[in-house]
Amino acid sequence: MKVTFYGHACFMLEVNGKKLLFDPFIRMNPLAAHIDVDSLTADYILLSHGHGDHVADAKEIADRTGATLISNHEVVTWFQNLGVANVWGMNIGGKMKFDFGTVHMVNAIHSSSMPDGSYGGNPGGFIIEAGGKVVYYAGDTALHKDMELIGLHHRPDIAILPIGDNYTMGVEDSLLCCNMIRCNKVIGVHYNTFPPIEIDTDNAKRQYEIENKELILMEIGESKDL
Ligand code: NI
Ligand code: MN
Repeated sequence: MKVTFYGHACFMLEVNGKKLLFDPFIRMNPLAAHIDVDSLTADYILLSHGHGDHVADAKEIADRTGATLISNHEVVTWFQNLGVANVWGMNIGGKMKFDFGTVHMVNAIHSSSMPDGSYGGNPGGFIIEAGGKVVYYAGDTALHKDMELIGLHHRPDIAILPIGDNYTMGVEDSLLCCNMIRCNKVIGVHYNTFPPIEIDTDNAKRQYEIENKELILMEIGESKDL
């Protein structure tokens, strides 16, 4: 399984010959200006919730590639009404087997509205079981006790967690999350994109080291094998 980071909370997982793009927000992110959106391809686009900083480029990429949008019912229906051809609606607590692996949609404590202000359903996170690995992408969320269920049932190999604070968990809460989900390897996202979510990245990494955990902070455009 390969992961490529595209800035903010956007990343691609490549597994079993399929490309899964999560929460695309590239064109409007000045830090990701060097990413060529026109050349990005995807088989699936997974959206954690309806906020603009997670869905901004979803329609463009879905229309060009024919990718299937996976999100909650309200988010996918909104995109369907805009003309997106292929969608798959899920909701919290459900799982579905796709041709690349299994997706579980899990709870997130946040909010969700679409870019035009319409109702965006409940925000969520995803657990992807594919290629012999379990990946937890938390989406935008507070720390919450349901994360213990992920530790009981899924034990992710790697967790992709927001660490920017203000709108989501910060670094300290992400460390508590690691204990709840029983995973010590984290890719940090949703930080340093805007002034309210600027963090001291050296200090963040130190806090992880003190607890014998690993915080991976990827360059925008960088890929890694998981
Ligand atoms: Ni959000
Ligand atoms: Mn966000």
